[in-house]
Amino acid sequence: MKKQAFKDKVKKKNPQTCGERSRTITKMAQIFLIWGILLVGCGQTAVPTATPLPNTPVSQMEPTPTLIASPTAVATQPPPPTATPQLDGLSIGDPYAPELGNAGYDVTHYTLSLSLDPAVENIDATVEIRGVVTAPELATLSLDFVGFTIAETLLDGQPVTFTHKDDKLILFPAQPLPQNSPFALSISYAGNPVERPSPYVGFAASLGMRFVNGQSIYVLSEPDGSRFWFPNNDHPRDKATYRFEITVPRGLTAVANGRLIEQINDETSSTFIWEHNHLMASYLATVVVGDFERLESVSPDGVLLRHYVNDGAREEFDRAIADLGEAVDWMSDLFGPYPYEAFGYVTADVSGVSLETQTMVLLANNMIGQRTTIHELAHMWFGDWVSLDSWQQMWRNEGFATYVQLMWENRDDPENFELAMEAVRSAVEENGEDFPLGNPPPAKLFSFNTYFGGAVFVHELRQEMGDEAFFSGLKTYFATYGDGTASDDEFRAVMETAVGRSLADFFAEWLE
Ligand code: TRP
Ligand code: ZN
Repeated sequence: MKKQAFKDKVKKKNPQTCGERSRTITKMAQIFLIWGILLVGCGQTAVPTATPLPNTPVSQMEPTPTLIASPTAVATQPPPPTATPQLDGLSIGDPYAPELGNAGYDVTHYTLSLSLDPAVENIDATVEIRGVVTAPELATLSLDFVGFTIAETLLDGQPVTFTHKDDKLILFPAQPLPQNSPFALSISYAGNPVERPSPYVGFAASLGMRFVNGQSIYVLSEPDGSRFWFPNNDHPRDKATYRFEITVPRGLTAVANGRLIEQINDETSSTFIWEHNHLMASYLATVVVGDFERLESVSPDGVLLRHYVNDGAREEFDRAIADLGEAVDWMSDLFGPYPYEAFGYVTADVSGVSLETQTMVLLANNMIGQRTTIHELAHMWFGDWVSLDSWQQMWRNEGFATYVQLMWENRDDPENFELAMEAVRSAVEENGEDFPLGNPPPAKLFSFNTYFGGAVFVHELRQEMGDEAFFSGLKTYFATYGDGTASDDEFRAVMETAVGRSLADFFAEWLE
């Protein structure tokens, strides 16, 4: 169908509730729609009651900005500077989410030492951040961090003064840091995480670290939740490597990204050391604590697969991942070799949301199935290996993950694949929201249209380019931007080179 007619059709529809939606669509489309609703949690968990206005400037997010510094911190540190220097770098420059990320430096590595107990809703932590100054000189160093009581802040081993307000932790080095100089921060803090709805995520009451019934712990951070559990430069433009040292009561298991290096037990506690030696956006960092069985295998081509599964979920899980090794190798053939040390899932006591946390996907206990597992696997390439330059371009994450999952399901049946895409297209026409794919309102960032409208666009692009150019373009895209970020324009340029002509009008028609 012509894009304009498609758009017009979409426009005619009024916004509907999730319940209304599912009654108005065809049988075949229903399968996909229900899956979509599940994946983004619409109608699942409590919709937040007091969502802040989208893109509210940080200074207005909280009615009364507070200076949070513990009495001990104040007592043990040099007095704050008398004249507050000009605060620079409070945004990394994503126009869609100006409140996120910070400029002037590049984080290279985080070490997160966390003491956690599901029975106590408290995080006791020391976070070490290594980085390099990128600005000509850096007078103030700002991080994203919400809540907690800060006990100590060290810069290169020396106490450094700070303020903590408006969701930013700002450090004041005694002398400006010169360009290219490496630095090491150590920030110790404790407390009960702040719970606040994200303007971008309507289907979770809050993001960050969540404690469940005194029994388990998990993390939800996309897109702006990692600052609710550790200080960081909270934007995919600043990726870093990670080490986790997680201490939990003896008997529980702590899971994170990458590889389990070591488990150290004493009488009452266990410390789990995890390392991830590839660059990762902070929203993809994860910690899950619970009672798990570890399952391990390898894909036919040798990718290490390891999973952490709750007891009761074992049968369902085994069924869901029966073909996982094949799927990993199949995607490696299509997009380039699986980029990381290992891949797997960790099940969590959360309803209706799963998240593509790098190498260790968070899988909701009530979403264990082929659709979700394959969708999240596709994100290892689309979103994790190549991350978004701006959150505005979410269609490139969710549209591709959705499309790849549909491709996988129909890999042996091209005719059925076309039927499936037709069904998705009608579902989007019937139910799609009226906003440009390339510029969703924040509250619609993870909406039906982003996932399924995005998948329809991907399909159209493939048809426009032809299979050969489309798939060779994708391989070049991953080879070029893997381990980093790419914008829609950079993606388009790669696809244009692959097909040998401009796709400017085509992209504009779909995204604007
Ligand atoms: N990216 C997730 C997916 O589609 C959906 C998602 C976005 C999410 N933000 C989230 C899930 C926050 C959990 C929490 O796979
Ligand atoms: Zn997704």
